[in-house]
Amino acid sequence: MDVLVVGSGGREHALAWRLARDESVRRVRIAPGNGGTAAVGENVDLDPTDITAVARHAVRERYGLVVIGPEGPLAGGLADELAAARVPVFGPTRAAARLESSKAFAKRQMERAGVPTATAVAYTDAGAALAHLATLELPPVVKADWLAAGKGVIVPDSMEAAEAAVRELFAGVAGRARILLEDRLTGPEVSAFALVSDETVVPLGAACDYKRLGDRDEGPNTGGMGAYTAVPWFGAEELERAAAEIFEPIAWRMVRDGFPYRGVLYAGLMLTPTGPMVIEFNARFGDPEAQVLLPMLDGDLSAALLGSATADRSLMEDAMQPRSGASVGVVLASEGYPDAPRVGRLVEGLEPSSAADDGDVLCFHGGTRRRADGAYETSGGRVATVVGRGSSLAEARAAAYGGITSARLDGGRYREDIAARELQPIDTAST
Ligand code: AMP
Ligand code: GLY
Repeated sequence: MDVLVVGSGGREHALAWRLARDESVRRVRIAPGNGGTAAVGENVDLDPTDITAVARHAVRERYGLVVIGPEGPLAGGLADELAAARVPVFGPTRAAARLESSKAFAKRQMERAGVPTATAVAYTDAGAALAHLATLELPPVVKADWLAAGKGVIVPDSMEAAEAAVRELFAGVAGRARILLEDRLTGPEVSAFALVSDETVVPLGAACDYKRLGDRDEGPNTGGMGAYTAVPWFGAEELERAAAEIFEPIAWRMVRDGFPYRGVLYAGLMLTPTGPMVIEFNARFGDPEAQVLLPMLDGDLSAALLGSATADRSLMEDAMQPRSGASVGVVLASEGYPDAPRVGRLVEGLEPSSAADDGDVLCFHGGTRRRADGAYETSGGRVATVVGRGSSLAEARAAAYGGITSARLDGGRYREDIAARELQPIDTAST
């Protein structure tokens, strides 16, 4: 079959790369893609938020499957439009994607499903929110109830900072807005992923993501600067627990409430002393989590995604098998990221992975475009993710960092500490 991947980041390059390797996939196209995705398929010049145009293209080209990467088109109803046109689509409807696009909706569904999450109160005006703040002993987490591209969550260290965050969020939006004040949780964080189709849940894996720009988690929040899997302290058993306590109850609740979920569900978890709790849901794969998870799945990805799209449980369960070992992804960012990334800068030494590429070092492009002379230049903040695979995290990490040293980008930066915390300390006592 022919497959269309919607989106333009490193996540979409990884999806397109993995799908192009499937035997049942004849051709992959990416809309709009980036400089690197052209190595795995044909880029189609479409704006993913122009839902009518994407749907018209998908109908005309008779794709066997459309895979929607980013949240914007999901929240805009692209899956609904494609389903109405009878195009098989991997990704939830607009109503189901509110698990990501509305934190208040997600919170209500979690409460109704009995899914463990922090207590939160929603406010639509600054005065009431500030009055509630005055009654609290500890500063809460302040969250915007709209898609804020990673910038809508503030974890303040003082009441003054919490007040400032409330004022700032309300000042920054026009018209009616809603924010959440949420109890602050503590514990290690992990991103867990499951394929969902109505009530069926198939756990896919888990990865740790690094959101801050700099080493030791310093600097501003970003979309993600690196990730790794397999997470030593969140293995098959923990994933099963998350399926039973989180994914299955929420999937069931969504069906009962008339918003059946089909697609990948991403749960941002915090492992608190009382068990895993949900920080957020996303209605899509993570970026850069997809870049480390997808290379660790053997089998037929397109069949599994089609299974989720068409509620075929056996396809979802049997099409893929986890690969043993580990993977580490390091993101190369352009100077000025995340505020004002420099575009138009030459990128060298980062050959994008093609479908034939199945080695220990993979390279997925994000913010790149191809120049007329064939060279790559930056077009966004997260330029590429270099992924290393190996039999251990140490090996995978060495492969990733070995790969990224060949990159040449003026002003480019990457974190040096991705997965470093998981490496065994050298036992000096026994030497
Ligand atoms: P989110 O965009 O909802 O994933 O939040 C971004 C980050 O804020 C998370 O990765 C957490 O580190 C932090 N965070 C969000 N909610 C809470 C919470 N209730 N308690 C502590 N930290 C939180
Ligand atoms: N890496 C975090 C996200 O994709 O939301």
